[in-house]
Amino acid sequence: MTDTIPQLNSYDPSALDQAFATLSEEVRQQSGSLKTSEEQEAFRLHWLGRKQGRLKLISEAWLKSAPAEARKPLGMQFNQLKQQIEQALEALAATKSSATVQGIDISLPGSARRPGIPHPLLSTMHEVVRVFHQLGYSTNLGPQVESDFYNFEALNFPPNHPARDTQDTLQIAGQQVRPSRDRLLMRTHTSPVQIRTMIAQTPPVRIVIPGKVHRNDAADATHSPIFHQIEGLCVDTNITFSDLKGTLDHAMKALFGSAVKTRFFPSFFPFTEPSADVQISCIFCGGSGCRKCKHSGWIELLGCGMVDPAVFAAVTAERRKIDPADDAYNPARISGFAFGMGVERIAMMLHGVSDIGHFYSGDMRFLEQFA
Ligand code: DAH
Repeated sequence: MTDTIPQLNSYDPSALDQAFATLSEEVRQQSGSLKTSEEQEAFRLHWLGRKQGRLKLISEAWLKSAPAEARKPLGMQFNQLKQQIEQALEALAATKSSATVQGIDISLPGSARRPGIPHPLLSTMHEVVRVFHQLGYSTNLGPQVESDFYNFEALNFPPNHPARDTQDTLQIAGQQVRPSRDRLLMRTHTSPVQIRTMIAQTPPVRIVIPGKVHRNDAADATHSPIFHQIEGLCVDTNITFSDLKGTLDHAMKALFGSAVKTRFFPSFFPFTEPSADVQISCIFCGGSGCRKCKHSGWIELLGCGMVDPAVFAAVTAERRKIDPADDAYNPARISGFAFGMGVERIAMMLHGVSDIGHFYSGDMRFLEQFA
């Protein structure tokens, strides 16, 4: 921006017009190229500054020696030029205030953080747990590092019993010095929380236990050494196998749709007697047979049974360490059922996922599909 004051050779109207046209063009050009607010402020000071502003200096230089008849047109020309400068500044301020707040340009695309979603395994657990909450069940949790007593012994898996072979266990190192019941391991199922719950509270008991479990299994499309289960336990007076059947039939219909049928097959678990495997009619073909159900029309989904009196006996032995007269879990008065299901298997069915590894990959392309 130039600071020199233009020479005015004559005060006749055409000379004045000419001089102000030049100044006006100067203003137009300068105001058109102002980008930052600092540049705008410098422009304002350059022209309108009270002491050293260009308008002030020029008017002083030109007005002083002006003949009386030229003062009025000169004044009018100055006012017009001043207005032009002020309007240019106002126009710039208007565009600025619509887009910037305290130096932040709010018209730029933001870096908004997208809301998270529950992991599909978590939302599946929530769905199952919700079905049982509606039946009056509450939720319990337990430790993932568990002792041999809770994970096996109290559940009627005696030391060295072959039933332990069905759950290839990850042992914590350096436990050999301890008595066998205190040795630590990664829990192989959520069933130990049945024992913890019954030791802590008297019947009636209605709980679901969602949680992470560990087995020394090789990973493939349907297996993972770390996976999730949901356990259920109901203990009260007069609990029968038909209560178990009715409860699980209702839960499967609530989860997979009211058209789903259930059927129960004899099975074996050390902590239930009798034990059963539960199958549901294939949700993909409706029972007519397809690749997913290996053309049987049925899909096996969970294990269950009536709580074995040996389990109540183990619980009672523990409770009597605190109250020798305790008789809360006397199988002559109470009975119960239990069940356990794999979360991954249910999530894979509900969402058509063919490889269990997707759940643990952290791949956003997979996870975003559940948003
Ligand atoms: N704990 C068993 C497993 O991991 C599953 C199971 C079966 C749990 C029957 C139960 C039950 O509560 O009654 O293989």
